[in-house]
Formats: sequence, C-alpha cells, structure tokens
Amino acid sequence: MSLNPRRIEDIRKFWESHPVAASAIPHPLGTPEYFQCYDRLREANESVAFSYRLHEYREFSSRRVLDIGCGNGYVLSKYALEGAQVYGVDITQTALDLCSRRFVLLGSDGSLCQGNAEELPFKEAMFDCVCSMGVLHHTPSPARAVEEIFRVLKPQGRFIVMMYHRNSALFRFTFSVRSALTGKPTSELVDEVDGPGNPKGDVYSKGELRRLLNRFGDLQLFVGLLQREMLWSKVGSVLPDWLLRMGEPHVGWFLYAKCIKP
Ligand SMILES: C[S@@+](CC[C@H](N)C(=O)[O-])C[C@H]1O[C@@H](n2cnc3c(N)ncnc32)[C@H](O)[C@@H]1O
Repeated sequence: MSLNPRRIEDIRKFWESHPVAASAIPHPLGTPEYFQCYDRLREANESVAFSYRLHEYREFSSRRVLDIGCGNGYVLSKYALEGAQVYGVDITQTALDLCSRRFVLLGSDGSLCQGNAEELPFKEAMFDCVCSMGVLHHTPSPARAVEEIFRVLKPQGRFIVMMYHRNSALFRFTFSVRSALTGKPTSELVDEVDGPGNPKGDVYSKGELRRLLNRFGDLQLFVGLLQREMLWSKVGSVLPDWLLRMGEPHVGWFLYAKCIKP
C-alpha cells in the first residue's frame, strides 16, 4: 500500500482531464454515442447480470443511495432507474457534468455534488446504501474515506466497493515481469492503470480489504475480471479460454466487497 499519500489536488487534476475510459472512446464527451461506447466497454469488464446481482438495484427502490466517485453515472443511473433517491459525489466537475448529462438523456433525476470521499458533505446516517466502484484505491487515505462512509450510512445500511486486487494475475505475474523488464516499480505500473500521470493507484488483498472494512458486518468478498491482455503476452496468447474462466474468480483484477453497518 502507498506510504506517501498524494495530495488530493493532484488526484483531482488528473481525473478532471482523464474521465474514466475517455481515452478509449472516439466520440465527444457526453454525446449519446459516448455513453453507448462507454457502456459497451464497461460491460465487457463487468456484465450487466453481475452488476444487477452485486448491487441488487431493485432492493433500493424509494431508498437513499450514494455513489462515491460516481464518474459518468453508469452505476448511479441504474439505481435511479429502479426508483432509488440517488446522490452522486465526485471530486471532478467533468465527471459530474457527464453524470448529469447521462441522467438528462435517460430522463432520470439525481442529486450530484463535487466533493471528496474523505470529507463527505452529508449528515450522519443518511443513506440506505453507499457504493464506490474503482475509486477508494485512488484517494490518499482510503481508511478515512471508509470512516466517512460508515458515518453517513444508516444502521443496517449496505456498503459495496470495488478495489484493484493484489493477488491478481495482472499484479502478481504480469506487472512483476514488466517491472523486471523495464525497471519500473510495480507500484508505478499500478498507478498507471488508469492512464500515465495518475498520481495514485493501489492494490488490496482480501485480508487487507477485510481489515479496512473491519467495522462492518456480513462481509462478502468476490473477485472478477481476468482478460487475456492482462497476462504477459507470451502466456496470454497460449492460455485456453477455459483456464482463463477458471482463474477469474481467484486471480481476477477486481476485488469486490459487500457489507453492512451494524
Ligand atoms: C476509475 S473512475 C470510476 C468511476 C465510477 N465509479 C465507475 O465505476 O465508472 C474513478 C472516479 O473517482 C473519482 N475520484 C477519485 N478520487 C476521489 C475522491 N477522493 N473523492 C471523490 N471522487 C474521487 C474520479 O474523479 C473518477 O471519476
């Protein structure tokens, strides 16, 4: 884990000019084609069926849901479409503009505000569910963010999170090989997963995530996402599909947790 927390301002600046996956989308930001392309890319990593099983969107109809680091609103809009009262926080205005545009295109409603996961602009015990997908490993103090999430959740409220996985084939194998070949530390390779210049990325083992979430109960952990391109090419090109599918729930890149505030 990072020993030197980076300044939140550097993190904000990076994401302001690098909205998630935008570099892979050949359409102007915020157009219907942009969202269609983003959703296709995202659903290649995480199927719609899995997303519905993980979030159980319908359970939160008429209830209050907060998405921290909501990005362009892919997840938040699904809660909204199922009837939740949704709140999105992101550290960048770019993400909030995209999220708001997605909501307009869908005819949905939500409350969006710029803010930092580590200092949430909400009263305590406001939410039935908080989620944060692919965000907390980018913030200087994930532990502080988790304290804030605990504070704003109602008792019996649910928290869902995705972090990058330390015991993944990408980190343990491919990044080790790449580091040995290039001399770049593996921590720098993790920082760069979402684009060169990203001031902070991090990886968590199941044990590390369990410790981070130790105030929560009913913890469930899942691992997903193993793609051929995540393996060093000499191995990735010869591995059969069935072996990739078998390895995915063990050495995939996404580590998910779902838990309850007691
Ligand atoms: C990899 S993207 C994930 C976006 C979205 N959760 C998704 O699943 O598509 C990370 C997002 O987290 C936001 N972010 C990073 N650090 C943050 C912080 N400390 N507080 C709030 N948002 C943050 C970034 O601006 C960016 O939109």
